[in-house]
Amino acid sequence: MIIGFIGFGKVSQNLIELIDSKDIEFITSTEGRSSKTADKIQQSDVRILDSFKDVAIESDILVSANSPGNAIDVAKTYGKYADGIYLDLNNISPDTTFEINEHVHNLVDGAIIGKIDSAEPVLYLSGEKSDELLFLNDFIQTKKISDNIGDASILKLLRSTYTKTLSSLLIESSALARNHGLEDEFFEILSVTEGEDFTEKSKSRISNTLNSRKRKSEELEQIIDYFNDDDLVMVKAALEKLNR
Ligand SMILES: NC(=O)c1ccc[n+]([C@@H]2O[C@H](COP(=O)([O-])OP(=O)(O)OC[C@H]3O[C@@H](n4cnc5c(N)ncnc54)[C@H](OP(=O)(O)O)[C@@H]3O)[C@@H](O)[C@H]2O)c1
Repeated sequence: MIIGFIGFGKVSQNLIELIDSKDIEFITSTEGRSSKTADKIQQSDVRILDSFKDVAIESDILVSANSPGNAIDVAKTYGKYADGIYLDLNNISPDTTFEINEHVHNLVDGAIIGKIDSAEPVLYLSGEKSDELLFLNDFIQTKKISDNIGDASILKLLRSTYTKTLSSLLIESSALARNHGLEDEFFEILSVTEGEDFTEKSKSRISNTLNSRKRKSEELEQIIDYFNDDDLVMVKAALEKLNR
């Protein structure tokens, strides 16, 4: 089996490490890539083809893991050459996934939950062809959600409505606690009910959110835009909080 990659960043490199099988060959191309990416490719054991078009043609599974902004262009340009499965792992909105589906033959909608280099990332899949990728479970925890393209992307967005809104709430309540000189105690009493690792996880969530406030705001805007529901009071408040 041949797995091809369009995009050779953290996701693709980690997948190659995880999918450790003598029956699988990996291919990609350095066509048009930065020297950083080209160096990474040269240093790997991946077979290098002249063009991404060739990669698309040769792959049984073509993985698109490049960037949310390039995902549609990549699908439009190479999707038509891929007769195998086209697995999109970019962090994209459901609308983008639906658009990609119009340009590729056998799309599987993929969502990596947790960072790909975290201890146990989980790969969620949706789309009729997902069954053909369940063998990946031998290497990375892999779950099929449904036969519907879009469900993996929607589920990822639903997860974000919770995590990103919660982060904004944590920023607010921990600031209040700090203003009252009770920040450590605040985390301690929450840990009683929320679990031992609550303090560590919350602080990492807070700093993560504050360090990439602009991107998080954009992601909240994307959620509001996609679900377009008057009941999204909390998400809208979280966005207002981040924009202050
Ligand atoms: N990192 C994670 O844990 C994670 C989790 C879930 C989803 N994702 C999603 O997966 C995608 C990849 O993430 P990453 O962390 O691997 O990104 P990354 O480390 O920034 O790497 C992106 C790679 O894609 C290449 N690329 C960009 N545009 C391309 C194009 N048009 N054709 C071919 N290659 C192209 C880049 O090459 P150049 O250097 O030449 O630009 C680079 O090699 C993103 O959409 C991200 O949202 C990431």
